Amino acid sequence: MKRIGMLTSGGDCQSLNATMRGVAKTLYNLIEDVEIIGFDEGYRGLIYNDYRIMRPRDFSGILTQGGTILGTSRQPFKLMRVPDENGLDKVEAMKKTYNRLKLDCLVVLGGNGSQKTANLLSQEGLNVIGLPKTIDNDLWGTDMTFGFQSAVNLATNVIDCIHTTAASHGRVFIVEVMGHKVGWLTLHAGIAGGADIILIPEIPYDIHSVSEAIRKRAKLGKRFSIIAVAEGAISKEDAMLSKKEYKKKLEERKAKYPSVAYEIGAQIQEMTGQEIRVTVPGHMQRGGSPCPYDRVLSTRLGAAAGNMIINNEFGYLVGVKNNQITKVPLSDVAGKLKMVSPDDSIIQEAKSVGISFGD
Ligand code: F6P
Repeated sequence: MKRIGMLTSGGDCQSLNATMRGVAKTLYNLIEDVEIIGFDEGYRGLIYNDYRIMRPRDFSGILTQGGTILGTSRQPFKLMRVPDENGLDKVEAMKKTYNRLKLDCLVVLGGNGSQKTANLLSQEGLNVIGLPKTIDNDLWGTDMTFGFQSAVNLATNVIDCIHTTAASHGRVFIVEVMGHKVGWLTLHAGIAGGADIILIPEIPYDIHSVSEAIRKRAKLGKRFSIIAVAEGAISKEDAMLSKKEYKKKLEERKAKYPSVAYEIGAQIQEMTGQEIRVTVPGHMQRGGSPCPYDRVLSTRLGAAAGNMIINNEFGYLVGVKNNQITKVPLSDVAGKLKMVSPDDSIIQEAKSVGISFGD
């Protein structure tokens, strides 16, 4: 008899259910006696002993269903060692739940912070397997995270829709895409949507260069421009600030503008005299059904995790490298972000076709 715990942690995405289904179907299919325990709302359920015993039919019909049937919550890694308001030691509480339920393994579907906690639990002696979730695709140790391609599709669709109205009205449009620290989503949606300017956190922008790129297009007779901006895009000036100074700057900005796209919009309007509009699709980018690519990736990752459980291989994040499913030690993954490098060939290729990064 194998008893497997499962939880979905951090921001949700479209392909969490598809991934859990991959794990569950593999286990039900390949071994006789298995019980899957689903923890409610991520690590919260593991800490506070909130769980339900899943049945095979819980995993049927969820391949195409976005969100997570288990619910999720953000339980910051940095607070894991800090007792809760009632003095509860969260790490000890999680170990206690795991041991009391006599689990053979805990499967954690989560992004960066969640995998740090997964590594912590693994180092505390629990059998843990991580699965790479995030629309940001910023998890180190895997070429691709599930959720990313679905979010790219959604953000691209927004840019496509904006394109037609921008062309009709001859306006400059800014589309703000999710991604506070990394720009993979903005970069891919920007290229796929034919954005003229792409601004991402990894390549600080000069607002004069951005304005110049718009003027240049106008001079060429182009009536509109599309700018894809990551929510964490940062100017060259701000990139020079210390962490504390930048935090203060963000606080000040909040009083004037809802987000970076509005600030950039106001600056460009003043510099170019062009009419600017801002669109922020926000959490829509995490919603809806997983795209076919994600359904396949999730099924493959889930199946690999199921097989690893059967083979007693623990302490790994299941990822994908060059289209092959891989396993990377959680200790290698924890705390590392996979960022866009200005030297990546995709940046050079985008520049070749005339996309400006405002640098
Ligand atoms: O980590 C995924 C992500 O969607 C980011 O791109 C975004 O900045 C953040 O989550 C939003 O988080 P929340 O759900 O807490 O608003």
